[in-house]
Amino acid sequence: MSGAKIILLVIVLIGNVGRIHSQISWSETAPGVWKATAGVPESYDLLKASGATPNREALSAITQAAFPLSQTDISIKVVDGKTYLRFPLQKEEQLFGFGLNFQTIHQRGKILQLHVDHYGGKDNGRTHAPTPFYVSSKGYGVFINSARYLTVYAGTGVRVESKNAPVAKDRNTDKSWSSRPYSDAVEILVPAAGVEIYVFGGPTALDAVKRFNLFNGGGCLPPRWGLGFTQRVKSLYTAEEVKKEVTAFREKGFPLDFIGLEPGWQSKSYPCTFSWDSVRYPDPAGFVQGLLKENIRVNLWTNPYVSPEAPFYKAIVPFSGSHTVWNGLVPDFTQDQARKLFFDQLQRDQVSKGVSGYKIDEVDGYDHYLWPDVASFPSGIPAEQMRQTFGLLVQRYSETIFHQQNKRTFGLVRASNAGGTSFPYVIYNDYYNHEDFITALINSGFAGVLWTPEVRASKTGEEWLRRFQTVVFSPMAMINAWASGTKPWSYNEVAEPIKQLALLRMQMMPYWYSAFARYHFEGLPPFRAMNLEEGFVQEAKKENGNANLEENPYAEAVSKEIKDQYMAGDYLLVAPLFAGQQTRKVVLPKGKWYDFFTGAFVGDGQVITVTPGLDKIPVYVKDGGIIPMMKPMLHAPLPGEKVDLNVRYYGDKPGKYMLYDDDGESYNYEKGDYCWREIKVERDKNGKLKGSISAPVKGKPNTVGNVLFEYMTNREPSPHRGRAGEGGH
Ligand code: GAL
Repeated sequence: MSGAKIILLVIVLIGNVGRIHSQISWSETAPGVWKATAGVPESYDLLKASGATPNREALSAITQAAFPLSQTDISIKVVDGKTYLRFPLQKEEQLFGFGLNFQTIHQRGKILQLHVDHYGGKDNGRTHAPTPFYVSSKGYGVFINSARYLTVYAGTGVRVESKNAPVAKDRNTDKSWSSRPYSDAVEILVPAAGVEIYVFGGPTALDAVKRFNLFNGGGCLPPRWGLGFTQRVKSLYTAEEVKKEVTAFREKGFPLDFIGLEPGWQSKSYPCTFSWDSVRYPDPAGFVQGLLKENIRVNLWTNPYVSPEAPFYKAIVPFSGSHTVWNGLVPDFTQDQARKLFFDQLQRDQVSKGVSGYKIDEVDGYDHYLWPDVASFPSGIPAEQMRQTFGLLVQRYSETIFHQQNKRTFGLVRASNAGGTSFPYVIYNDYYNHEDFITALINSGFAGVLWTPEVRASKTGEEWLRRFQTVVFSPMAMINAWASGTKPWSYNEVAEPIKQLALLRMQMMPYWYSAFARYHFEGLPPFRAMNLEEGFVQEAKKENGNANLEENPYAEAVSKEIKDQYMAGDYLLVAPLFAGQQTRKVVLPKGKWYDFFTGAFVGDGQVITVTPGLDKIPVYVKDGGIIPMMKPMLHAPLPGEKVDLNVRYYGDKPGKYMLYDDDGESYNYEKGDYCWREIKVERDKNGKLKGSISAPVKGKPNTVGNVLFEYMTNREPSPHRGRAGEGGH
């Protein structure tokens, strides 16, 4: 080598100090899921925290997909201890996801810092589940398995060397000048010297979402009772007051499956003692068992911060973080000893007495309330990673208690992250904007989590009813009256429609239960965005929100997004109204749609304007839609209890539906103790609609009684009701 060449080589080597250009190699780690490793990934990440294991069999059942991106357009670099990721973006490509956002569905053009936190009113990445996963309208998904605060530039940065670099324009004279020139990449900064990256194939965006959920173990399957109605009583309620509340539900004919106790059941909180208060609850076992006899389960509020008066306080000191939260210790749940001390107390003191679940509060943030990022934990896991995963850890290990006794649970939590899809928990928060609650419900389907637009109290009966209408079309039908003590019937003028809605929730239990089974076995989110629905076309109208150049010289027109209607289960489109609204537009995807309540045809691939009246929430059914319903019971059916079905059919197209069945309470479904039964509606040779259900499977659970078909749209030829007994005809 000549002297000059050696000098050149030395210069190149010096220039590359601290920089590792990874040779990216993608391997298909599960069907339709590719993995690449950048640098040296950290030993702790989201999948390790959650312990999620892919459901490979279900993944392989999805249509095969090829690697969805151009590999040469993906760039992965580790420079000075940080990982720089770049993924290509095409023109017109839309991006969804990046966690539980509350105000926007479309994420292209956003700069976000994914950070577990209470939602603070802005979609900036700080949220209860800042899942580092995005989905593209081109039919693929990308997941970064890091428990760090990731900075995301979702199509904002413009590189000099971009193949599609926008041309410079003269702002003075060129009307097409833009303050946000075209960007052809999603860029992500990971503050660590390596990370695992996963790409999920389609072919559709919905397939990519399903793959992500299945890769995380599939969605949770709640017990049947979890899909009934739940009321959370006022803080400091006594056992007697709770029993009185339960009696009031029964006497008034309101359904109730589980009741939530808020702060006050423990002797002290916050920080928490994790022990019953002996005055308000003198006989916890008698109290819980008494309610169980009435088919009412008990769910307990708690946060995980340990009071000096908790029985295991001293023992858990060495396994806790350096900083306190509300003067309580923060257990390091990545350590066996901390888990054992903490969850054994819950098991011994509450679950063994019959408690059915928890609401695990305050694991998300409001920075002042949590440990700071300078805190340390005995496991050596940095405070930042602990923050990003604490919600996962409390879900994972609390669920274990129930799993061990083969009883399902369904609870609430205020933080989660990627990897948490299979945990039977629903996210909630203290924010209370009804519109934003619906947008969060839509985004939950991209984030691999569940969200409840819980109802607390309202200024008017109208608002109460509008909020209630949406919570019954959500994963958890709940009133959280911890502060107000509100009851469903508190607003006299709307008490009757509220009752009818609560009963409708119960009638629809077979539909909700099968929707969750599809979440578990197929990864299909039970509540999801219109954007995942075939034939959905956005209105392309742009609005620029009264741009005032003096306030914002770079304001740009933005596309109006559809963030107030969503899909629920296989066939339903829900389009809520909010207080003050009498009328709204509904964007119907291509295909015929029918009114859920009347069966009437409402439109096909068009935007309709509806004025449904106060006591109706607009809900539409896809052509050929089948909705199995039961009678309006006040509690979920007991395990093994046979229930007659009223199967509604809508439209003209032949209908097909898979009804899921199991014991509704245990984990025996994990061992194959379940069955799917096919329901069909077709026309016979005389053109008459005929419904049938496949025979029960020998040796498998069967809770289906008589099946009655109700043809909602084509009520002719009469009689419009047909009957099909068990086994079908
Ligand atoms: C909040 C929680 C509320 C309620 C309250 C009780 O943190 O979000 O739903 O449980 O605590 O103090």
